[in-house]
Amino acid sequence: MAIKKVDTIWVDGELVPWDSATDHVLAHTLHYGVGAFEGIRAYQRADGRTQIFRLREHIDRLIDSCVICTMDPAYTREQLMQACIDTVRSNKMASCYLRPLVYLGAGALGLGSFEPPVRTIVACYEWGAYLGADGLKKGIKCMISGFTRANGNAAMNKGKICGQYVTSVLAKRMAIKSGFEEALMLDPQGYVAEGTGENIFVVKNGVVRTPQLAGAILAGITRDTTIQLLREQGVDVREEAIARDELYIADEVFLTGTAAEITPVRDIDHRKIGKGEAGPITRRLQEAFFNVVTGSDAKHDHWLSYI
Ligand SMILES: Cc1ncc(COP(=O)(O)O)c(C=O)c1O
Repeated sequence: MAIKKVDTIWVDGELVPWDSATDHVLAHTLHYGVGAFEGIRAYQRADGRTQIFRLREHIDRLIDSCVICTMDPAYTREQLMQACIDTVRSNKMASCYLRPLVYLGAGALGLGSFEPPVRTIVACYEWGAYLGADGLKKGIKCMISGFTRANGNAAMNKGKICGQYVTSVLAKRMAIKSGFEEALMLDPQGYVAEGTGENIFVVKNGVVRTPQLAGAILAGITRDTTIQLLREQGVDVREEAIARDELYIADEVFLTGTAAEITPVRDIDHRKIGKGEAGPITRRLQEAFFNVVTGSDAKHDHWLSYI
């Protein structure tokens, strides 16, 4: 889906017109992929107010990704949070997706050069259900990808780092060309890791499991939200290794992510998951999640940054 242009983008401390937010073709990150980014959502709640969901945690992870990339962020946590708020405000968005990016600009192209300037942008734009409105309701079809999530010495899985998304893009494109909606990736040992841009949860006999953070996965903020919401509902949630075929025989599988929100999986590699629809634990979780982000839940205000 093409991005719908809005008025302004925050670039290095200033809101500039959308069309002026450009950079040189010799920007270091464009060539080697050393850059850190985030995906954040702002939602309009039942009372009409707009909030950015778990903004602090996203900015903390952005700064962590910069550390992993050996980039010194040019702005503080508070300044980056304010930049996100200002960008949404300036574009008068009731709800939107936010894309902060810290990257290396033009100036030198040596691999080890510290000369390129560290540049920061925050864009926002409209983005509906990432895996489709139908997918959110009825579930999606997934395939296990032939691409593996790299081990922790080959990829910095705890960072949201630009160049690391090559395998995610290739796996996702292959899945779509093969008639699936998403690809699921295994780790180097063959255990379940995550989706191309989502964490994964598996339900069997009322117990919910998700791969541990020490594995080859991103520490998803929606993953953390999910674990907290499920535990509040009294559900037994465990972080542990999951074998590939445990997916095929699960009662429910769902994916979590800022873009994907809580998306049920109805089929994996042509095996129907449970009844082939969103299961009861997934549905209850979706209800709780959307009540927090767009509804009138009052218990999780600490997750909301109002515009
Ligand atoms: C590889 C990967 N895993 C998981 C996630 C989910 O993370 P979050 O819930 O913080 O959006 C994302 C999205 O950011 C991702 O890119």
